[in-house]
Amino acid sequence: MALLDIIVAPDPRLKKKAAAVARVDGDIVKLMNNMLETMYDAPGVGLAAPQAGVLKRIIVVDPAREGAPPAPLKMVNPEIIWASEETKPHDEGCLSLPDEYEPVIRPDKIKVRYVDENNELRTVEAEGLLSVIIQHEMDHLDGVLFVDHISSLKRNMIIKRLTKQKKVESGNKRHALENA
Ligand code: NI
Repeated sequence: MALLDIIVAPDPRLKKKAAAVARVDGDIVKLMNNMLETMYDAPGVGLAAPQAGVLKRIIVVDPAREGAPPAPLKMVNPEIIWASEETKPHDEGCLSLPDEYEPVIRPDKIKVRYVDENNELRTVEAEGLLSVIIQHEMDHLDGVLFVDHISSLKRNMIIKRLTKQKKVESGNKRHALENA
């Protein structure tokens, strides 16, 4: 297994639509295992393939709280086939938008159809945290970030902060090279 590099916003690669997976083969399984390892290492509760630069409709999630046994889900070509009318706000964060958190309103309960790691079609019902994570990760497959659900004023502030942070980091890298 290997850790993958997570793309940090703003980055045009995070705004692209991912393509459906034709068949779950050994390479896809390997990718999903690497995504899970990367997610746990970050640490995070979900990761979508486009965040690792792979434009495929694949997400991994694990809503288990710290100390609880892991409960990973690997989902290929996920599709929401039902969503509750009842919505709930939930504070969301994203490994591609480090240290930024804002409440996002989404349907509370969903039913999702997906292909599992054995290439079998499955359906899962989710509510609460699991529902939030799946919807958040599925957004990544269509180039949508959680900040796209909040006011443009707040979104612009967050993107500005992240842009500034990137400039600082690339400056630090240059210095490190100069010092080498
Ligand atoms: Ni995210």
